[in-house]
Amino acid sequence: MKPPAIAIDGPAASGKSTVAKLVAQELGYTFINTGAMYRAIAWYLAQQGVSPAQREEITEMLPNMPLDFGKDGASSAVLCDGKRLRSELTEPVVNDSVSLIAAIPEVRAFLLHKQREYNESEAVVMEGRDIGTVVFPDTPFKYFVTASEEVRAARRAAQGLTDSISERDKNDRERACAPLARATDARVIDTSDMTIEQVVAEIVDDIKDKTQVQV
Ligand code: CDP
Repeated sequence: MKPPAIAIDGPAASGKSTVAKLVAQELGYTFINTGAMYRAIAWYLAQQGVSPAQREEITEMLPNMPLDFGKDGASSAVLCDGKRLRSELTEPVVNDSVSLIAAIPEVRAFLLHKQREYNESEAVVMEGRDIGTVVFPDTPFKYFVTASEEVRAARRAAQGLTDSISERDKNDRERACAPLARATDARVIDTSDMTIEQVVAEIVDDIKDKTQVQV
């Protein structure tokens, strides 16, 4: 039997990364941040001076990029030429281009394969925009984590990052290929007035309830 996959989706700065990481810790599963995978490609292309409009060039470059999508302990990690990417992933140039890069179907197909691979041998908590709809449509564990636009803008500002999240969300919702969307069978959690601990507890309790029912 395939190991479980927990899908956590939601708009920018909804708190899903923090929540997903803690849920993974509590369950002893591997945490996979798919946004970092799109961000790594956006960063690499910016380094090469390739614009998001150059779809053909990008498609040709995909298999030869020096990027590795691996793990560091119990979390996903992206490496470029063997060096782990960290602060590079939230550079302004990446925030500005990532949703355009993520709208390219060939980029999504390339990463979809790598994302599913993580779950072949181990249980994962994967966060992103299309995990419940596209990456793991059959998992019974789907959560759509959201918060009001004001709360999300405040959370991003508190991180000290320059990031026009409303524009990114618009791009993510409106793209044709695997848009940001709630799976019809996802549990929606509006975190505007919740603490992180409350959100984590709601998800972990729901997973435990469902797992008991399945056994
Ligand atoms: O941290 P934040 O929630 O702002 O964003 P992220 O999860 O790091 O994702 C960055 C961008 O990658 C998103 O705005 C999407 O354009 C894209 N993305 C996606 O298209 N599909 C995913 N599964 C994850 C991210």
